[in-house]
Amino acid sequence: MYICSRKIRIKNQFMSKIRKIGVLTSGGDSPGMNAAIRAVTRTALYNEMEVVAISLGYEGLIQSNFKQMKSNMVSDIIQRGGTILKSTRSEDFKTKEGKDKAYQNMKNEGIDALVVIGGDGTFRGAREFTEEYDIPVVGIPGTIDNDLYGTDYTIGYDSALNTIISAVDKIRDTASSHNRLFFVEVMGKDAGFLALRSAIACGAEAVLIPEIEGDTKTLKNYLKKGSKRKKFSNVILVAEGDESGGAFNIAKETQKDFPEYDMRVTVLGHIQRGGSPTAYDRVTASEMGVAAVEAIMDNQNSIMIGMINREIVHIPFNRTVKHHKDINRRLLDILEILSI
Ligand code: F6P
Repeated sequence: MYICSRKIRIKNQFMSKIRKIGVLTSGGDSPGMNAAIRAVTRTALYNEMEVVAISLGYEGLIQSNFKQMKSNMVSDIIQRGGTILKSTRSEDFKTKEGKDKAYQNMKNEGIDALVVIGGDGTFRGAREFTEEYDIPVVGIPGTIDNDLYGTDYTIGYDSALNTIISAVDKIRDTASSHNRLFFVEVMGKDAGFLALRSAIACGAEAVLIPEIEGDTKTLKNYLKKGSKRKKFSNVILVAEGDESGGAFNIAKETQKDFPEYDMRVTVLGHIQRGGSPTAYDRVTASEMGVAAVEAIMDNQNSIMIGMINREIVHIPFNRTVKHHKDINRRLLDILEILSI
């Protein structure tokens, strides 16, 4: 039987003098953030620490938007999308005055350490904060974009993929019935992780992502061949950050060269950020939430909790915000092979 090393951790915690942990979500919400909030709250309480929930991300630190958490306050949320703590992208927290105020409010509230759940921008803010003030901060990657260096998965990515797949499956019915070509635009900011992986899962004919220059030329070659063999039903996934300028632009451009195709455009938009998290996101969020509190108890600071090959890892904020995460090029080969 596995025995949790709670006693050792509690001993460490008393040596590290951490009694009260603050938790917030920042940046774009993603399905599974609530599961992470629940895991952070319950792990801290389990280890006899206090937990303070901070509403509205870093903005809530500046406005003293604090609430003492009890275990039942995170009941019935693991299955819910969005974030019960609400989220913002705070401009004030980028200023010295904003950060000074946040620090003072945390001191007044007795918060000894912070867990931040969010993406790239959240960790940039956290890194600056820990460099200037003596408050340990540990991050949990929460974004549908999956664009963070140092982790295979971010919380929300799997749920967003499943939302995309279910939407594109429906679009495919019309594409097949009417012999139409659909350009479907998906989110991902300036990265193509969501587009590429969902393209494989949907059996898309092609994908346009920002990481690959000149992919519109490849698409045109593909359509030329398709036209010759009278294959007019196609689903092309377009990452919002692709250099072609999005699905509407590329549709307009392509239609000029291929008038024989009946084209339509669908932009999936914010439905990709909502909905109940998948089992994968709930479990990952739970693992990461527990790991974040344990890292704080082990006196870690300025790190993101990552997941590599299903193992928890600690990545310094410096590395995750400075390095670029590469796409898996093998998936592009797979798409090409499977879309003949
Ligand atoms: O980072 C998550 C994300 O959904 C991106 O994919 C997208 O580019 C952006 O946020 C949209 O942000 P907003 O909700 O502010 O429009």
